[in-house]
Amino acid sequence: MTVLPNNPTVLIAGATSPSGAATAAALSAAGASVVAVGTNPARLNKLSEVAEGITSYVCDLADAEEVDRFAAQLHTDSGPIDGLIHLVGGWRGGGGIAGQSDEDWDFLHRHVFATLRNTSRAFYADLLASDAGRLSIVSSTAVAKPTASGAHYAAAKAAAEAWTMAVANGFRRAQSGRKDDPEPQRAAAAAFIIKALVDDGMRQENPDRAFAGYTDVRDLGDAVVQFMAADAGDVNGTRIPLAE
Ligand SMILES: NC(=O)c1ccc[n+]([C@@H]2O[C@H](COP(=O)([O-])OP(=O)(O)OC[C@H]3O[C@@H](n4cnc5c(N)ncnc54)[C@H](OP(=O)(O)O)[C@@H]3O)[C@@H](O)[C@H]2O)c1
Repeated sequence: MTVLPNNPTVLIAGATSPSGAATAAALSAAGASVVAVGTNPARLNKLSEVAEGITSYVCDLADAEEVDRFAAQLHTDSGPIDGLIHLVGGWRGGGGIAGQSDEDWDFLHRHVFATLRNTSRAFYADLLASDAGRLSIVSSTAVAKPTASGAHYAAAKAAAEAWTMAVANGFRRAQSGRKDDPEPQRAAAAAFIIKALVDDGMRQENPDRAFAGYTDVRDLGDAVVQFMAADAGDVNGTRIPLAE
């Protein structure tokens, strides 16, 4: 089993879905201190069933000012973070190109992109200063193969991927790519690429379904731990395919 050195503090942005619970469990088992964030206190409280010692905060991560207040509170409570695992998602679509609604775009922009932009800006200095700073998102195979009915979704995910690669560039330029005084690469940002997620509840509800090509949430949790443990120079700026 992988053990992460130095008890890193890892913030899971959007931690209350099955993928968040699986990621929190995997990170806790690997020795990380997990900070869970979501908007629903009852769902956050249930994470205590997943592993001991998870601390949780309620914050609308789509609201930049709220995120800045939350970051200040977390720094006061427990200091800087080492990892930011972004899991806020959601899907809207249908209706073909002309039918892509402003309401759906607003939802996807807020959930998929604004939450990532706000959190990565608020915690960028932490990740850069850490011995092993990490940022990951979970993107979609739809970016490379968009559909007309999912045009907004693919565009929002493409924006999130581009932002993540820009963060990776920032990390590289500040560390191994510095011309005057290069340092070893310590921080890394990457995007996991999946088709869809599956968990035990979905399997129980659909016992005859194969879920071909889906990624089990436990495999996502394990992949996050491996990403945290990997050499930063090897994983910074990468897209990591994950599929069953
Ligand atoms: N599910 C799939 O099949 C699939 C497919 C491709 C890619 N992905 C990506 O994989 C990642 C995880 O997927 P998922 O389905 O587990 O995600 P999700 O359920 O859509 O979102 C994860 C959590 O984010 C929280 N959240 C929503 N809005 C928030 C906000 N404004 N501020 C703070 N927290 C917020 C929700 O918790 P609260 O209720 O507590 O707010 C939710 O439990 C996402 O990036 C998703 O786009 C998923």
